[in-house]
Amino acid sequence: MSYPVTRPRRLRKTAPMRRLVRETSLSVSNLVYPLFVCPGVDIKEPIDSMADCFHLSPDNAAREAKEVAKLGIGAILLFGTPRKKDAFGSEASSPDSAVAEATKRIKDAVPELLIATDTCLCAYTDHGHCGVIKDGCVENDATCELLAAMATTHAKAGADIIAPSDMMDGRVGVIRKALDREQLTDTAIMAYSVKYASAYYGPFRHAAGSAPLQGDRRSYQMDPANSREALKEIQMDIEEGADIVMVKPALAYLDIVRMAKDAFETPIAAYNVSGEYMMLNAAADAGLIDRESGILETLLSFKRAGADIIITYFAKTAAQLLS
Ligand code: PBG
Ligand code: ZN
Repeated sequence: MSYPVTRPRRLRKTAPMRRLVRETSLSVSNLVYPLFVCPGVDIKEPIDSMADCFHLSPDNAAREAKEVAKLGIGAILLFGTPRKKDAFGSEASSPDSAVAEATKRIKDAVPELLIATDTCLCAYTDHGHCGVIKDGCVENDATCELLAAMATTHAKAGADIIAPSDMMDGRVGVIRKALDREQLTDTAIMAYSVKYASAYYGPFRHAAGSAPLQGDRRSYQMDPANSREALKEIQMDIEEGADIVMVKPALAYLDIVRMAKDAFETPIAAYNVSGEYMMLNAAADAGLIDRESGILETLLSFKRAGADIIITYFAKTAAQLLS
């Protein structure tokens, strides 16, 4: 393998040659587009912390879902905001929550579009934590029960995939049991298995109004310094019944995506989070990085690292670029 017998540039000379030997490719079929739904009618409110993202009422979410499907995107991930927050995040499991309502409307409008629903309490609790609080701590087991109720409501409304993002121990198992008890055996679970306590969620928390009023999420989300622990989390979630496992954020954790890919057979999703999205947008707005090639290079890196599924706010743009 040495020069001059070997000349790697031979395979880079022309576009057809480069295409012939390309190892990884991006496809619209693996993209998931997140949508923010809110209670009400005819609402389309721009989210000021996240370019080109909106709070949509269920009717407008259904309209948007049609557009998304037209671009060839096969799945969306719904996040919701409540009418009213309380200590237990009660509205999360209400059958007329914005997410439940939007799920029904979207299924009616675009039956072939897969709907995943983020399952977590932080947008619904008045204190902003992902679970219920007792004696100043986020209580694990009581939270799992509430998440199971939330998941059941979403699945009954027609969600295809439940996506718990809370990081409580054992929640995948509790959710799986609750779904099965209701004969919702075909509803899949995409677990946010490896979710780090990250600064990159900043723009999202602003959008969802879900920043904790006190403290931070480090007692339940993972320490960014750890990687072996990521494998343990994935292993546990698979054993509890996760159909898809996730690594989040994506860009600063590509090593974790690769480790997960090498260690498990379960499909792996990478979540290109809000801070990563806005970092690239800010650089493009400043004229520092070319937006389109920056998007495609970033998404390709997730694929190359081993992600089967990519959740990204760039999904619509990427779908257009790939068509
Ligand atoms: C809620 C949740 C968060 C994100 C997805 N679900 C925020 C958090 O944990 O604080 C982040 C998504 C993003 O930044 O794009 N548990
Ligand atoms: Zn949360």
